[in-house]
Amino acid sequence: NVLILDFGSQYTQLIARRVRELNIYCEIYPYHKIPEDLSGFKAVILSGSPFSVRAEDAPHPDLSQIRGKLPVLAVCYGAQYLAHFNGGKVEPSGTREYGRANLTVIKDAEMLFDEIKENSQVWMSHSDTIMELPENGVRLASTTDVLNAAYRIEGEDTYAIQFHPEVYHSTDGKQLLENFLVKIAGTEQSWTPGAFVDLTVSELKEKIGDDKVVLGLSGGVDSTVAAVLLHKAIGKNLYCIFVNNGLLRKNEFESVLDQYKHMGLNVKGVDASDRFLDALKGLSDPEAKRKAIGNTFIEVFDDEAHEITDVTYLAQGTIYPDVIESVSVNGPSVTIKSHHNVGGLPDFMKLKVVEPLRMLFKDEVRRVGKELGIDKELLGRHPFPGPGLAIRILGDITAEKVRILQEVDHIFIQGLRDWMLYDKVWQAGAILLPVQSVGVMGDERTYEQVVALRAVESTDGMTADWVNLPYEFLQKTSNTIINRVKGVNRVVYDISSKPPATIEWE
Ligand code: XMP
Repeated sequence: NVLILDFGSQYTQLIARRVRELNIYCEIYPYHKIPEDLSGFKAVILSGSPFSVRAEDAPHPDLSQIRGKLPVLAVCYGAQYLAHFNGGKVEPSGTREYGRANLTVIKDAEMLFDEIKENSQVWMSHSDTIMELPENGVRLASTTDVLNAAYRIEGEDTYAIQFHPEVYHSTDGKQLLENFLVKIAGTEQSWTPGAFVDLTVSELKEKIGDDKVVLGLSGGVDSTVAAVLLHKAIGKNLYCIFVNNGLLRKNEFESVLDQYKHMGLNVKGVDASDRFLDALKGLSDPEAKRKAIGNTFIEVFDDEAHEITDVTYLAQGTIYPDVIESVSVNGPSVTIKSHHNVGGLPDFMKLKVVEPLRMLFKDEVRRVGKELGIDKELLGRHPFPGPGLAIRILGDITAEKVRILQEVDHIFIQGLRDWMLYDKVWQAGAILLPVQSVGVMGDERTYEQVVALRAVESTDGMTADWVNLPYEFLQKTSNTIINRVKGVNRVVYDISSKPPATIEWE
């Protein structure tokens, strides 16, 4: 197990993902919450930070339980922190150092640089620089602009690097992490999907025993993988509920329900479309729509859960990015959009929570799903927001608008599949705009709705860029939509990145 101490860098989660990619288990802790018992950890990585070590309010934790006792790899801020408080010198650099640099390894005998090519490209992102090494510091590598790009502390397994091995642009970054974690710290590369499944299934059996568990399926990857894991552990004592909120994609409810049944899950499909439409009536504010949907979901789910006698647990498909307590440097983060499915258990449900995926990243959830034999098509599905088409229909929602958008979306998504573009896109969908425009069909003037198509590439939804779809594809898709979907006479393609736009329009 590896401990990653977070100083607030935007890259901290990336470090964890790289470590996990090496099949090594790791956990992130905020710098001010170092675990008291460190006996389970074999190595520590100190993250970067937006702070300058010289700033008074910068993170300055006490590392005396760690330094010299466990192997340490200090990245960027971490490297500066070790230097600044141990007899070294950190100062603002004359030039800001961002982006690529090439590494010259000075002491090539060091294991940290095993199998790393001379002049290897590394990624820099810092405005302070280490002018003088700390006590017992030995320089290991330099770049053209940064003399102390890497050093170690003599007499300890403490290594420090100014660059970021966790970003893809550091071409040998993963090798360096492997050198540190495996060769130097001796951690085992035993964190595999198979090992995770075995361990989790036996833990779930132990924890739940003969108790009953209820779980809400959404058709998405996380809840599906959570369900299959639990099913493997407790079989028919897992009661799944799949709610149709009437805002899913065309035919989605029926086909996904069917798939769940084929997987042997004990699942009840509940068609609550009318209840949701009622709750949404007259609402056009995006947050009001989200709240109405969230509340209705809780009501429907609660009604259904009460039908099952003696339930003890509520299972959720929560994943690691939702639970990491990241160090926030900008104060409490503002609510840009209230994602209703993140957050705690409503009081009145009074059930204990079980979250079998809470330590996994999204890509790991997919790997575990594959290990569990879940259909490739289901695992490769684009993310779809909980409030569904409601946040893709701008303005108020009616059954007719939902129907129109379902048709448009279906043509677009099916087209992406037919053109082998579906897997190249991270997320795609259509948006029904609250405007009408003039058109001409045959000899008649039309005055109908406009739809926007959106397709983005992304890795985690935090940032995204629009996809450069082939013109022929857009041409064909637009044509099919306008010819087939009554009520739509104009199609536009959204070419905004996130930031400054968001993926969804609401
Ligand atoms: P934005 O629009 O914030 O979306 O760039 C980022 C990702 O989050 C999804 N999203 C939601 N998911 N409930 C959800 O479950 C929501 O209210 C919600 N709003 C946005 C969006 O589809 C994208 O994948």
